[in-house]
Amino acid sequence: MTERETWSSRAGFILAAVGSAVGLGNVWQFPFQAANNGGAAFLVVYIAAVLLIGFPALLAEFVVGRNTESNPVDALREYAGESWAVVGGLGVFVGFWILSFYSVVGGWVLRYVGGSLTGAYFGDPSGYFASIAVGVDALALHFAFMALVVGIVALGVEDGIELGTKVMVPAIVVLLVALAAWASTLPGVADGYAYYLSPDLDTLAANLPSVLPNAVGQAFFTLSLGMGAMVTYASYLGGDDSLPADGASIVVLNTLVGVLAGLVVFPVLAAEGIGFDTAGMGAVFESMAAAFATLPAGNVLGVGFFVVLLLAALSSAISLLEVVVSYVVENTTRDRKPVAAIVGAGIFLLGVPTAFDLSLNGVGALAWYNLLAYNLFLPAGGLGIALAVGWTQGGRSTRELARGSNASETLGLAWLWTLRTVVVLALTVTLVLGVKTVLVTAGVLASSALSSMPLVVALAAVVAAVLVGGARSVDRPTA
Ligand code: PHE
Repeated sequence: MTERETWSSRAGFILAAVGSAVGLGNVWQFPFQAANNGGAAFLVVYIAAVLLIGFPALLAEFVVGRNTESNPVDALREYAGESWAVVGGLGVFVGFWILSFYSVVGGWVLRYVGGSLTGAYFGDPSGYFASIAVGVDALALHFAFMALVVGIVALGVEDGIELGTKVMVPAIVVLLVALAAWASTLPGVADGYAYYLSPDLDTLAANLPSVLPNAVGQAFFTLSLGMGAMVTYASYLGGDDSLPADGASIVVLNTLVGVLAGLVVFPVLAAEGIGFDTAGMGAVFESMAAAFATLPAGNVLGVGFFVVLLLAALSSAISLLEVVVSYVVENTTRDRKPVAAIVGAGIFLLGVPTAFDLSLNGVGALAWYNLLAYNLFLPAGGLGIALAVGWTQGGRSTRELARGSNASETLGLAWLWTLRTVVVLALTVTLVLGVKTVLVTAGVLASSALSSMPLVVALAAVVAAVLVGGARSVDRPTA
């Protein structure tokens, strides 16, 4: 095995992590998650989930990664004990899994960059989507997207990932700001902003049990948590930077980009009189394309928008592949390049059902892959990491968090206890509701079988009792 690489600079690490976080989740899923979950009301719960659950969970991943300097499987084994390697193993599997459908959507984006340039979709935006989203066409573009991802990861941590994200992330921000500024000049934008930015708290109160797990799932997906991407990226940190400070920059930048994307999408749709609730996997493509098709200078705007989406997707996809590649490279004698190519080929194959949109129980492959990742795998992985970092280790975790930062001891303890209680509780509830959603979607359970609210309350009570018991027996770090 060759010597382990590290980031060349602190900014390199932060940009790579922001690149991982900012992705299709922010631009493709976020505005429509919001639209389906009460508009601005969702924004409020989502931001709360990011701060209270996502941020401490992100720091937990940084702590294991930097402390062990290993891929997720070896990292968790070394940090918390042999059996915790399973949590890292789940992460590697999930990286493989998510990238398989992420790349199909990435392929659509590639197609739309070209389509905006030539105006290919201008005549019939929704017909165009239907014609490229499924089938051999989709497969070819899925292949092209995977080839790009493999190409970058094969070049290594410093020359591939770091260099790539140093270009991609600033480009995303500049383009989005320009697009948002332009969008603000469109007629009728006030409705778009109003929908997006004024929370309807009654809707929120009425739907909290369903909004909550979606918001937690979205927070995890968008921050690339629960599958070891942030463990892996932090494992390449050589020095003693402040993890809380770096984590805070990443959370803030990711949230800003998400909000900025909303400030582009909602005004454009409002200006064109396109509804906000055209949910579905093709929503952002069909409706934004419909808007570009009629707006003046639609070609230019379309290229700008879809290039943002492409860069965001690419810089996230490389972090998904890197999780798998780092694990394989560190556990075999093979070099990074062939490993990246072989793993990439496997991921391409796993994406075939998505490219052909095979369906099961009336639900398409993309929706299935996404649902399992969102509602099951990421909360489960996040829970495993929170337990490993929070409960099996106390003192070691707070000491690692404190290394290189001047945060006070009290802050470290506040983080540890948030991880041990709030994060564990929220992820358990999200996971159980996720299992329910999966069973309902599979047709095993009627949607009315278990009403969510009593389930959440009962579960919260059980977890709280276990946590109180655990708190009595665990080591009490004083840092
Ligand atoms: N955070 C990425 C997004 O928002 C997706 C992702 C999830 C990337 C998990 C890496 C790991 O699109």
